[in-house]
Amino acid sequence: MGGVDEDWGRVDDHLARALLPADEVLEQVLAENRAAGLPSIDVSPLQGAFLTLLARITGARRVLEIGTLGGYSTIHLARGLAAGGRVVTCEFEPRHAEVARRNVERAGLAGVVDVRVGAALQTLPQLEQEGLGPFDLVFIDADKGGYPQYLEWALRLTRPGSVVVGDNVVRRGRVADPAVTDPAVTGVRTFLDAVGAHPRLRATALQTVGAKGWDGFAIAVVD
Ligand code: SAH
Ligand code: DHB
Ligand code: MG
Repeated sequence: MGGVDEDWGRVDDHLARALLPADEVLEQVLAENRAAGLPSIDVSPLQGAFLTLLARITGARRVLEIGTLGGYSTIHLARGLAAGGRVVTCEFEPRHAEVARRNVERAGLAGVVDVRVGAALQTLPQLEQEGLGPFDLVFIDADKGGYPQYLEWALRLTRPGSVVVGDNVVRRGRVADPAVTDPAVTGVRTFLDAVGAHPRLRATALQTVGAKGWDGFAIAVVD
């Protein structure tokens, strides 16, 4: 037990086998993503189950996701929705969105998931204009440089009691290394500082290790 990536992966497999039901739909989604050449940067199965639980725990009926990829996290969020609930998910790459729509359909969730193609900063004002908020749960997982602006939009599109989650806030510890000036990392750093400083947010972050290495989620509730 050296605490290295391969141990984390092995323990993730053990936990997933112990806790998660076998799920052919989710396996098929990952196979479709691979076949379409999408990067395998979806949440892990255990992290996905965490998103389902969060949706359930919060009783979410309106969920907003920023960064769909092939819809793996989207399907997990949708599975946790209360009756009559919907997920709106924003994806920049038409190719990713197309794969996601197919996957969502295969998961039997086409009626509750709305995939919006375009840069999230274009789509989010449209969602506001359409009156689709307030969202109960927001999952931020698109381009990391955009996180500070996605936080602003999350605040505009939520209500007191809503929950905002940011993925990938640790990035193998790079977030805490001042020598790293990659915008993907500085974006997350600025996001974390903005969450911490915001008078309407109470937040924490949980570091995670597992199939995807060392990373973490930030979780905030809107006051
Ligand atoms: N949430 C997914 C993973 C998302 S990966 C899952 O866990 O299954 C990040 C996605 O954000 C990629 O598909 C990328 O194309 C998309 N993205 C990047 N920039 C974006 C932008 N400006 N607006 C919307 N989506 C964007
Ligand atoms: C990576 C992981 C993610 O969850 C993501 O949203 C973007 C990139 C990565 O491992 O590179
Ligand atoms: Mg992510």
